Amino acid sequence: MIDGCIFDLDGVIVDTAHYHFIAWKRLADELGITFTEQDNERLKGVSRMDSMSILLEIGGLHMDLTHQTELADKKNVWFVDFVEKMQPEEIFPGVKQLLKKLRSKGVKIALASSSKNARRVLQLLDIEGEFDAIVDGNMIINTKPDPEIFLLAASRIHIDPKQCLVFEDAEAGVEAALAAGMKCIGIGSMQQLGKAHKILSKTADFDINDLSTF
Ligand code: BG6
Ligand code: MG
Repeated sequence: MIDGCIFDLDGVIVDTAHYHFIAWKRLADELGITFTEQDNERLKGVSRMDSMSILLEIGGLHMDLTHQTELADKKNVWFVDFVEKMQPEEIFPGVKQLLKKLRSKGVKIALASSSKNARRVLQLLDIEGEFDAIVDGNMIINTKPDPEIFLLAASRIHIDPKQCLVFEDAEAGVEAALAAGMKCIGIGSMQQLGKAHKILSKTADFDINDLSTF
């Protein structure tokens, strides 16, 4: 039985995954790295600095950590520029209603995002109060695919990991959820997220009557 639902943020609740891609692409262009949406799948769910390393690996470039940090900071400024213009209406249709429905059924709700900007995004979407617990990239040491973030989220809502259902759009996130011993719904394509227990194209497609099937 599922007693807790844990949501990723970028690409699950709102399309900030696209803003991350545009910002990384701009940096890649400046560095002369060819960077496609397919390449971007590897960056989803992982931390800012891990994303930086993957981008450099894709481009076959090497640089010291100070320079990497400067470039990752620059990418973050571009990303935050997009974020600060966000309106509450940008939340994916039906997601706020889903969160409310789950809570009205007594299901505990947590957010588990690798992003250090997660709380700000929730504030701008006006949904910070919809969660029983919020865990973000500032609160963990190991990012997805490590299970740490999901285990921390489960402990914050006091639900056994086995009774948690994770909503994830990243391959690294699906792996993290499974490593945590949780059930997982992949939001996106079978090709990318095939290891998940179920795939949906949109978060709001989840039918709360299906909670008992996990
Ligand atoms: C994850 C995104 O949610 O957060 C990644 O899927 C991103 O693409 C990561 O790199 C870290 O985000 P931030 O906002 O801390 O740079
Ligand atoms: Mg995501």
